[in-house]
Amino acid sequence: MASVWKKAMVMAVFFSSLLCFCFDFSEAQLPRFQHAPKPDGSLSFLVIGDWGRRGFYNQSQVALQMGRIGEKLDIDFVVSTGDNFYDNGLKGSDDPTFHDSFSRVYTADSLQKQWYIVLGNHDYRGDVEAQLSPILRQMDSRWLCLRSFIVDAEIVEFFFVDTTPFVDQYFIDPKDHEYDWRDVSPRKNYLKKLLAELEMGLGESRAKWKIVVGHHTIKSGGHHGNTNEIVTQLLPILKANHVDLYINGHDHCLQHIKSSNSGIQYLTSGGGSKAWRGDFNWINPDEMKFYHDGQGFMSVQMTEAQVEIAFYDVFGNVLHSWSASKHLSHSAI
Ligand SMILES: *[C@@H]1O[C@H](CO)[C@@H](O)[C@H](O)[C@H]1NC(C)=O
Repeated sequence: MASVWKKAMVMAVFFSSLLCFCFDFSEAQLPRFQHAPKPDGSLSFLVIGDWGRRGFYNQSQVALQMGRIGEKLDIDFVVSTGDNFYDNGLKGSDDPTFHDSFSRVYTADSLQKQWYIVLGNHDYRGDVEAQLSPILRQMDSRWLCLRSFIVDAEIVEFFFVDTTPFVDQYFIDPKDHEYDWRDVSPRKNYLKKLLAELEMGLGESRAKWKIVVGHHTIKSGGHHGNTNEIVTQLLPILKANHVDLYINGHDHCLQHIKSSNSGIQYLTSGGGSKAWRGDFNWINPDEMKFYHDGQGFMSVQMTEAQVEIAFYDVFGNVLHSWSASKHLSHSAI
């Protein structure tokens, strides 16, 4: 008898919390994770995008060099900018592609760290729930993929954003593809809530550095070019909140673009496997600091005072690096 009551209570609490979660938009917040920097206050990580092809198209070569550089920089974690599994995401949480394109490929010791992962448009062509499922985390504890979330690393706060639902084309003209919009529809509400949560999270952030990660480009000279929906809906929020770096994939290249009208640096790390597309939309020499139409990845090393990024090719050579610093004003509260 007592156990029946206990069950009923648990169910009541469960459903009331579910109700709060669903209807209380004003109080809604992005899921939040803490990732402390090293004891000396520094933090380093690698960024890879557009990768899952069972090791083919140089994915394995890139993974090997990530392992080498990851060890050299003593990385704390890895960031994935999405398009984790080609061509059509995962079929389910038991899809062997997860092992063949992730666990079996990124095997170096230095890569056995937490991975923070967003979804790309190709992931939305499969079973999205599977990539978000804790079952994958049980199979490989590095895996953490959510739609949108915050990682608070004290000296820097990361805002991971689900950018695919912003793009009109996938809804209006999906061509031969089917997208898994469960939990995205109604789309208008989804985007409104996400933008509100992001605005609130960025506004409340007291971190010295703010980094936003999404799959789609804001500014890009590559095949896909700029993503208009993200430029009009997301970028104003990033500008208003003085975001330092916007990191994306989607275009299968490595790229560094300096904004001419804000402090934002646009960094593309989408060279995780298939690349060499050979088409550019634009190259404005005042903004385009670096473009590599091939495979590779990016590293970020930072302290509260400094950030340093580098791009590497498939051989692990540094192709481009850039750094910036901020004044530390300990007196200011
Ligand atoms: C792999 O990388 C090498 C060196 O950059 C390049 O020559 C080759 O074309 C790449 N292979 C593929 C399939 O992209």
